[in-house]
Amino acid sequence: MSINQNSLSSAVHPRKILIANWKLHGSGSHVERWVQAVQTLEEIRSGQMQVILCPPAIWLERARGYVQGERLALGVQNVSAQSEGSFTGEISAAMAFEAGARYALVGHSERRRLFGETDQMVAAKVEQSAQAGLIPIVCIGETAEEKRAGQTEPVLARQLECLGALHGEPVSTLWIAYEPIWSIGTGIPAEAGNILAVAAFIRAHVASSDATMRNQFRLFYGGSVGAGNAAALGTLEGVDGFLVGGASVEADSMVALCRALV
Ligand code: PGA
Repeated sequence: MSINQNSLSSAVHPRKILIANWKLHGSGSHVERWVQAVQTLEEIRSGQMQVILCPPAIWLERARGYVQGERLALGVQNVSAQSEGSFTGEISAAMAFEAGARYALVGHSERRRLFGETDQMVAAKVEQSAQAGLIPIVCIGETAEEKRAGQTEPVLARQLECLGALHGEPVSTLWIAYEPIWSIGTGIPAEAGNILAVAAFIRAHVASSDATMRNQFRLFYGGSVGAGNAAALGTLEGVDGFLVGGASVEADSMVALCRALV
């Protein structure tokens, strides 16, 4: 793969990025309070960090109405693998873009585990997202059993390799979030050494594979990140930011997390 090695170094991207994944939480009024509280933070206004809010899709447009300037970006938690047609309940990447999203979480472990998303569906969603102008943030990670069996690297490699099987044009910008499934929602983040080793593995794999990730690569960690551990995690070399679930939903908790990170 002709990936630009410079684009694999996070050292050239001093800003940390926090991706707030609300999952199935929140309300319309909560969106307003949250956006107002977070976007006025000095840490964000000064450009020291960027926040991407991924609320339930039905509130994207509402959130866009409260966002001022470029301080806060919006993402969608999931998109359809199809562009249009008879797919009741689905939301296409183009629809999410029109509602204000500029990023798309793809292949979150809850989507894979609870909604049967395969690596092939993940690849199709990456393609749909990129075609619609959304930056796909692909979530990969191993289960506790896979970790115990020493299978972390083969599992991650398989999840990454399917992205090389995209059919259409190469995806120019693709972000990866390493989210060990055993850490999500447990209050137990992966250890620093573990994250560093996996981050190095993912970067090396992306750099050497034939996948179509070419520019502006970013790597995230997700799993039980909160205000209590953000300062320590924030110093990890090669990690551009964090995908946060539980600690991102309440405005107070998110504000504390942002302050702890910078
Ligand atoms: P958590 O979730 O921060 O609640 O562990 C992370 C995620 O699922 O993206």
